Amino acid sequence: MGHKQDIQHPDTLSQPVDTLSPTDAARELAWLTAQITAADIAYHRDDAPEMSDADYDRLKARNQAVEAAFPALKRADSPSESIGAPTAEGFGKVRHDVPMLSLGNAFSDEEVAEFDLRIRKFLGRGADDRLIYTAEPKIDGLSLSLRYENGALVRAATRGDGTVGEDVTANARTVKDIPEMLQGAPAVLEVRGEVYMSHVDFAALNARQAEAGAKTFANPRNAAAGSLRQLDAKITKSRPLRFFAYAWGALSEPLNDTQAGAIAQLAALGFATNDLMVTCDGPSAMITHYHQIEEQRATLGYDIDGVVYKVNELDLQRRLGFRSTTPRWAIAHKFPAELAWTQLEAIDIQVGRTGALSPVARLKPVTVGGVVVSNATLHNEDYIAGRGGDGQPIRDGRDIRVGDWVQVYRAGDVIPKIKDVDLSRRPADVLPFAFPAKCPRCGSDAIREDGDAVRRCTGGMICPAQAVEKLKHFVSRSAFDIEGLGARQIEQFYDDGWIKTPADIFTLRDRFGRGIKQLKNREGWGEKSAQNLFDAIDEKRKIPLRRLIFALGIRHVGEAAAATLANHFTSWSAFEAAMTQAQVGNGPEWDELISIDGVGAVMATSVITAMQQVAERASIDRLVAQLDVEDVAAVVADSPVAGKTVVFTGTLEKMTRAEAKSRAEALGAKVSGSVSAKTDLLVAGPGAGSKAKKAAELGIETIDEDGWLALIADT
Ligand code: IVH
Repeated sequence: MGHKQDIQHPDTLSQPVDTLSPTDAARELAWLTAQITAADIAYHRDDAPEMSDADYDRLKARNQAVEAAFPALKRADSPSESIGAPTAEGFGKVRHDVPMLSLGNAFSDEEVAEFDLRIRKFLGRGADDRLIYTAEPKIDGLSLSLRYENGALVRAATRGDGTVGEDVTANARTVKDIPEMLQGAPAVLEVRGEVYMSHVDFAALNARQAEAGAKTFANPRNAAAGSLRQLDAKITKSRPLRFFAYAWGALSEPLNDTQAGAIAQLAALGFATNDLMVTCDGPSAMITHYHQIEEQRATLGYDIDGVVYKVNELDLQRRLGFRSTTPRWAIAHKFPAELAWTQLEAIDIQVGRTGALSPVARLKPVTVGGVVVSNATLHNEDYIAGRGGDGQPIRDGRDIRVGDWVQVYRAGDVIPKIKDVDLSRRPADVLPFAFPAKCPRCGSDAIREDGDAVRRCTGGMICPAQAVEKLKHFVSRSAFDIEGLGARQIEQFYDDGWIKTPADIFTLRDRFGRGIKQLKNREGWGEKSAQNLFDAIDEKRKIPLRRLIFALGIRHVGEAAAATLANHFTSWSAFEAAMTQAQVGNGPEWDELISIDGVGAVMATSVITAMQQVAERASIDRLVAQLDVEDVAAVVADSPVAGKTVVFTGTLEKMTRAEAKSRAEALGAKVSGSVSAKTDLLVAGPGAGSKAKKAAELGIETIDEDGWLALIADT
């Protein structure tokens, strides 16, 4: 970041902007741009902030004020246009009619074979039945959805959280691979694909940026993302973006009946499609193609990070359907992670929201696959000591010590990990790492329960680290997702004593009644931003049940489990009443809970414990009193099985059990594994035994597979 120091510090910074001369203003803007850009890179790219938030906000505010006073001097690379932190007046939101999903990953040949087996099992196909897949490069860029109506491009949106993305229509129109008009397309056509930047264009862009003293990008993916997500489409236009089409969303009529055919159709309509896509007749051909693509990787001219396999027949894709965020019919076979050696400078202990003490490696910065890495996870104390989860040695039992040379890798987008340690380079005087038995944040005992690899702080909500992490989880994207209230703001508010528990978020406006002024006088907050924050908070008082349950941050309850619980209980009052009554290990509520498909004893125990712990429960009740929790409406209002509890038993002949269950759930039914008084319908195939008998005793409606198919035929 040499240019940061090259520009002389202007001595006019404390002068009111309206007393500046144009020369001074221009000098200030140059200096501010360099400072802010360097801080952005340190914060967003290197994950190593060099500047306090307050100083950063001060620079941003000064930059904005000078620009407002001298609009003609605003620089092309002005940091007020960059996406470091999107502003409230940023992009419009677009709801995707068909969600934009991500892909499951495979990292080995075995996992590819398992993927094929899973699909065959789900579809009830034998090992020798013909099943065709497509195989194509996984482009390392960012996904984009393009909506065409009557052949004209009307909307372009980023993936966002998969359900709601950002409206980047004006920007997309500047990308030359993206046609404005299509001939002979379906009336409604959403084309999905990847925006990326070629290696040559990336290098040239970075050279230009460096020349202009503007921010350079860590890798082509960041460059593509930063270029597409510009508030000023003129900047996007100056950036050499490309687009490959590989999928679609909403359609008024089918493109074709196979994946390969549909992609050929998109190519015929004028989209760039990847010419390394082939069809394969099973795992061994898929893996062969994977290695062929891997060999060409360095010479393709753009970044790819694996190969995507998709079931070719679209009718089978439809039958296979989706898990919560990924399709069953596709998987990404990732290339092995890149590796680098560096020195371990320190081991810090972080305390997570469930009290878990997580060791983090502080590394001498090293480039791994185009990204500078200075932190990596060390998992837990056994991992540092060279023991795996089963007590067996890992790395042949070699432990990791501060001062060691360690091998770092990045697997996909996740936090870097440590693979190995080089004992031949171990300094003579280093000692084994002593894992703390007390919480480094609150001093409470940190204990390891039987069978748990993790040591946990026992301080609960008195531990500031746990409290803050719980709050960060609470406002995270899959939970309350409050605009303007991210991790940074949570830390600030917690330290100030304004937000200690989730309920405090929703009383903030009241407590600040006249106090908006107080917030306003704070670094980085103005009247408008404070007002925007309160409005954003109010917007989230109405919250879907599954988001609320997920937001509580109960151990073992992730997004999918929260959705399962919400779909089962359908309202907060039903959930809350059952969890208040429930006893761990027995009783009707316990039986009901563990009869839910996807809920096991460990999760059930965790939910009950959390909901019955006195302090925790009081905090939850205070929160819920502030909210308007939305019940789960029947997913498909006119589905004949919406809200019904269905049990499948015996042999199904036209579909597998997994397929039957997934279809029933998609129609709003709850699928249970056992018959009880709560069961509405039993679907019994040949060989049905005790469940059919019990249903008969309880007078529960029982139908066969054909009856079931007839019942759902119109949906
Ligand atoms: S198919 C329903 N094909 O990878 C799944 N995705 O890790 C639709 N990606 O979000 C995606 N190349 O941004 C598909 N050839 C390809 C891809 C691809 C890159 C991206 C895409 C997706 C992400 C999932």
